[in-house]
Amino acid sequence: MKFNIKNGTPEKQRSACVVAGIFEQQKLTPAAEALDKSANGYITGILGRGDMKGKAGSTLMLHNVPNSACERVLLVGLGKEQELGDKGYRDAVRAVFKALSDTGAADAILFLLEAPVKNRDLSWKVLQIAIGGLESMYRFDRLKSKVEEAEPKLQKITLGIIKSLTEEEQAASEEALQQGLAVADGMSLAKDLGNLAPNICTPTYLAEQAMSMAKTYKLKVTVLEQKDMEDLGMGALLAVARGSRQPPKLIALEYWGGAKKGKPVVLVGKGVTFDTGGISLKPAPEMDEMKYDMCGAASVLGTIDAVAKMGLPVNVVGIIPATENMPGGNATKPGDVVTSMSGQTIEILNTDAEGRLILCDALAYAERYEPESVINIATLTGACVIALGHVASGLLGNDDELAQELLDASERAVDRAWRLPLFDEYQEQLKSNFADMANIGGRAAGTITAACFLSRFTKKYRWAHLDVAGTAWKSGKEKGATGRPVPLLTQFLISRTTKQSGNTGETGSRKSRRKSKE
Ligand code: BES
Ligand code: MN
Ligand code: ZN
Repeated sequence: MKFNIKNGTPEKQRSACVVAGIFEQQKLTPAAEALDKSANGYITGILGRGDMKGKAGSTLMLHNVPNSACERVLLVGLGKEQELGDKGYRDAVRAVFKALSDTGAADAILFLLEAPVKNRDLSWKVLQIAIGGLESMYRFDRLKSKVEEAEPKLQKITLGIIKSLTEEEQAASEEALQQGLAVADGMSLAKDLGNLAPNICTPTYLAEQAMSMAKTYKLKVTVLEQKDMEDLGMGALLAVARGSRQPPKLIALEYWGGAKKGKPVVLVGKGVTFDTGGISLKPAPEMDEMKYDMCGAASVLGTIDAVAKMGLPVNVVGIIPATENMPGGNATKPGDVVTSMSGQTIEILNTDAEGRLILCDALAYAERYEPESVINIATLTGACVIALGHVASGLLGNDDELAQELLDASERAVDRAWRLPLFDEYQEQLKSNFADMANIGGRAAGTITAACFLSRFTKKYRWAHLDVAGTAWKSGKEKGATGRPVPLLTQFLISRTTKQSGNTGETGSRKSRRKSKE
C-alpha cells in the first residue's frame, strides 16, 4: 500500500473514497463541514436523523454525495471533541481501514490529521495512520494451501489536510510517514516470525532470517554454534538446549548507522522457538502458544529491520539466544547445577524457568560490545500477564534514566509499558543451598524475581528488561502475534536521534535531560 500527504479540500477530491470525522452531538470536523456545505446540508441531514451519532470508531459509508467529486464518503465517529485521546483516535483509524477494506475502493483520501487529539501533534497522527493502515492489511496465510481472501483492493492512501502546512510541518509529517511505514514493516516481520509454526521457525530459521537481513541491509552478522558456546562457557544456555534435537544458535546482528566510535545500544531477545517446559513439563492446554516464546527475538529483528530501513543514525546490536526447551533423555533435570558464562553457578530447580537461563549467557556475551545500554526483551513470566494483563509490558532495570527514556518512548508509541520495582529485598527469594543462586524465586512476585535473576548478570552496564509475556501475542479467536514491542523500541531509538527542538514533537532527549540535572 502506498501512502502520501496532500494539501486540498475534501469535496474536490477525485478519489474512490473521502474520509471525514464526525464528533458526538452532531459536531462536524472542518473536512466534514466542507463536504456538507458543498452537498447543501446532506451530512447534517443524516446526523439530524440520528443515523450517525459520532461514537468513536463507528462508521457510515455514503454513496453519491451531492456535488462531491469522489465515489464514496466515509464518515467516522471520533467521540466527544474535548475527549479525543489516543484510544479514540486509534480506534477510529482502525475502523476506517476496516470499512475501506470491505468496499471495492482502490484508493482513499483521509482527512483525519486536523482532528485535535489530546497532547498529540501532527507527526503522531501521521505515524498512527500509517501503522494502523498497514496493520489492517496484515495477513498470515503462508501456511494455508489456498488463500481464502482475495488480494486487498486498497492500494493507495492519501492523508489529506485542508490548511496548508509550513515547510517545517511538511518535513516533519513526511518523516513521520517514513517512520510509520518502517515500524509497520518491522512489526510485520516480528508477527510473521511469531506466527510461523514451531517446526518451521527453529533456532536455525531465526539465524537464517538474521543472515538474510544482514545481506539486505549490509549488516554484520555472527552466528555462534553449540561448539562456540561450549568454548565460551555458556553453561546456562546449553543446559536449556540439551533436551532438543534442534541445534541452538546465538545470533548477533550489528547495525552501525551512528557515530563511528559511538557505543551501541544492545537489544537482547529471548528466542525460545518452543517452550514445552522441559522436564518440568507444561500442561497441554494452549501449549501451542509457546511457539510465541521467541517473540522477544522477533522484536529485536523487527526493530533492526525498521531502523535499517530508516537508515537511522544510531548504533544497535541485536543478540538472540535461540533454542528449543524440550524434555528428553539428555534434558536438564530439576536439581542440576550449571555454570554460566559469567562464572556464577545456578541450581536449576524448574526447567520451565528457561528464559532467564538463556538470557543470562547472552547478557554476559553482550559485554564485549561495550554497550551504551542493554535492553532485553522476553516473554519471560506468566506472572507478568497476571500483573499487567495484555495491555502493558513489564519494565524493570538498574538505571532510572534509561527506564524513563523507555517509558517516554512507550508513551509516544502508545505501546504501553509499566515499571515494576527491583528492590534488593526480592533477591533473597533466589537463594540456593547448593549453588550461587536458584533459577526460580517462588510464586510471589514472579516477574520481579525473574528480573532479579537477570540483574545479577547486568552489573557492568545500564540495563532494562521488558517482559512481554502478556503483550507479544493474542490468544483465542484472534490468535496471533502483535508485533509489540517493536513500536516502543523503534521510538526509543528514533527519540535518541532527534534534538530537543526536533520535529517529531519529542522533547525529552537524553542530552537535554542530563543537562537539566546538572
Ligand atoms: N515462556 C514462559 C512464560 C510464559 C508463560 C509466557 C505463559 C506467556 C504465557 C516461561 O518460560 C515460563 O515458563 N515461565 C515460568 C516461570 C516459573 C517456572 C518460575 C512461568 O511463568 O510459569
Ligand atoms: Mn518456560
Ligand atoms: Zn519460556
